[in-house]
Amino acid sequence: MEELFIGQMKKSDLLDVCAIEREVFPDPWSLNMFEEEINLPEMYSLITFSYQGHLVAYGGLLNIREEGHITNLAVDPLFHGQGIGKSLVYVLIKMAQAKGIKNISLEVRTTNEIAQSLYNKFGFRTVARRKNYYGYEEDALVMSVDNIANKQYQQLISEIYRTLNFSLQTEDNLFDLAS
Ligand SMILES: CC(C)(COP(=O)(O)OP(=O)(O)OC[C@H]1O[C@@H](n2cnc3c(N)ncnc32)[C@H](O)[C@@H]1OP(=O)(O)O)[C@@H](O)C(=O)NCCC(=O)NCCS
Repeated sequence: MEELFIGQMKKSDLLDVCAIEREVFPDPWSLNMFEEEINLPEMYSLITFSYQGHLVAYGGLLNIREEGHITNLAVDPLFHGQGIGKSLVYVLIKMAQAKGIKNISLEVRTTNEIAQSLYNKFGFRTVARRKNYYGYEEDALVMSVDNIANKQYQQLISEIYRTLNFSLQTEDNLFDLAS
């Protein structure tokens, strides 16, 4: 099984991160925005995934007490469709569980069916719609999953873990990744 290496996002990662960000989002975050967020490690966890030494994906989890919010989540388009996105959401959820987060929410473009399908697998359901969230062109769907600490959810996560295409490795044991 191929390895994905998970690390905390560092300043030296930001050029690679922003290159992916610009490719996949019409309204990309700037390098300065990422730089500000990596300076808030107690409330913001930004992680990177590397495959064979290359940064191929990243994601962010904001936490305010028991509430989590997935912010950026992206995979380098050259690596889409290989199971990296699924591994990334899995890792963000394990991080959330380790932090004692109970509920997670996120916003996704109404047209982004691939991401919605990915989030659905992890139990996210649409709970609201934010009008013109992405400017006048597009609304956002707010998706959320509740009670991620309960036994039933743990069972879902364990089942997903068994389907992952990659072996997940972390730098200095960031957290326990097995399910
Ligand atoms: C959304 C994104 C992260 C998915 O990453 P990925 O590595 O390509 O996804 P995976 O290969 O892990 O696939 C995970 C699931 O996504 C869905 N999916 C992936 N590719 C798909 C496609 N071409 N068509 C439909 N669904 C698809 C499926 O549900 C898939 O699960 P399955 O393989 O069990 O069927 C990636 O497309 C991306 O970076 N998009 C641009 C940025 C973005 O939209 N981020 C989300 C913002 S809210």
